[in-house]
Amino acid sequence: MTTGGRASTERPETDMAVLRRSYLDLMRDSLIGRLNEEPPLPASKVDRYYDNVREQGWDWPATAPSMIGAKRMENVRSECERVLSAGVPGDFMETGVWRGGACIMMRAVLWAHQISDRRVIAADSFRGFPAASEASDAGFALQGHQDFAVSLEQVKATFARYGMLDEQVVFLEGLFKDTLPSAPVEKLALLRLDGDMYESTRDGLTNLYHKLSPGGTLIADDYFLFEAHRKAVDEFRAAHAISDPVVRIDEFGGYWIKNSGQ
Ligand SMILES: C[S@@+](CC[C@H](N)C(=O)[O-])C[C@H]1O[C@@H](n2cnc3c(N)ncnc32)[C@H](O)[C@@H]1O
Repeated sequence: MTTGGRASTERPETDMAVLRRSYLDLMRDSLIGRLNEEPPLPASKVDRYYDNVREQGWDWPATAPSMIGAKRMENVRSECERVLSAGVPGDFMETGVWRGGACIMMRAVLWAHQISDRRVIAADSFRGFPAASEASDAGFALQGHQDFAVSLEQVKATFARYGMLDEQVVFLEGLFKDTLPSAPVEKLALLRLDGDMYESTRDGLTNLYHKLSPGGTLIADDYFLFEAHRKAVDEFRAAHAISDPVVRIDEFGGYWIKNSGQ
């Protein structure tokens, strides 16, 4: 289940690298509810825990902090580690955090590498999805869904249970259209868009993409799933002549590395 040993041609890992990798493997599996084979929320319409379902993040775990599944959680971890080792400057940020799991992984990577001069910025209404105000979001069906209304207090309590609630985590509470234009962040090394809707995705890109450092990572959680989310991303890429290739993570998500295609 967890990623195992290294190919014999590679240099042996140091003790520290083994411990760091093992910690982040456990963190990933706990954050998505794979470690305890946690059953899904009834609204997922999946009858019980299945490993392949949780691998892809097709269901919503009953209590675990993230719904993004193993592949996209692994992508969060590996891209955070990549930008750190490449020296890409800036904080890590997610727009659309739900129970906070992907942001906890970001903070855990900073912890595992003992980095104290970068922050994790977690932006959400902490009340669930807003009403649709754009035609492209007209068919979106999750507004008012109580499973998505996770309060800031609940999210902070989850960070605290993982030992990850400290001054390196900043919460931005409110609708993206209100919070993102004045988000207290100068540079980002990684930006993860997980607000699903057209407007939520567009607001993330227009307010934050210029803050993403060259070599940084833009993750679009539902690029291959939600047409409205993809439309917002594709419009922004076209308007800004972004040619960096979108790399597929799983059936839902994609990401690109800024300026890699130029
Ligand atoms: C799919 S969930 C995020 C899942 C999360 N990243 C994880 O690791 O499980 C989407 C979240 O986006 C938030 N959201 C969507 N649009 C928003 C907006 N315009 N302003 C604020 N929050 C928004 C919702 O409240 C919800 O918590």
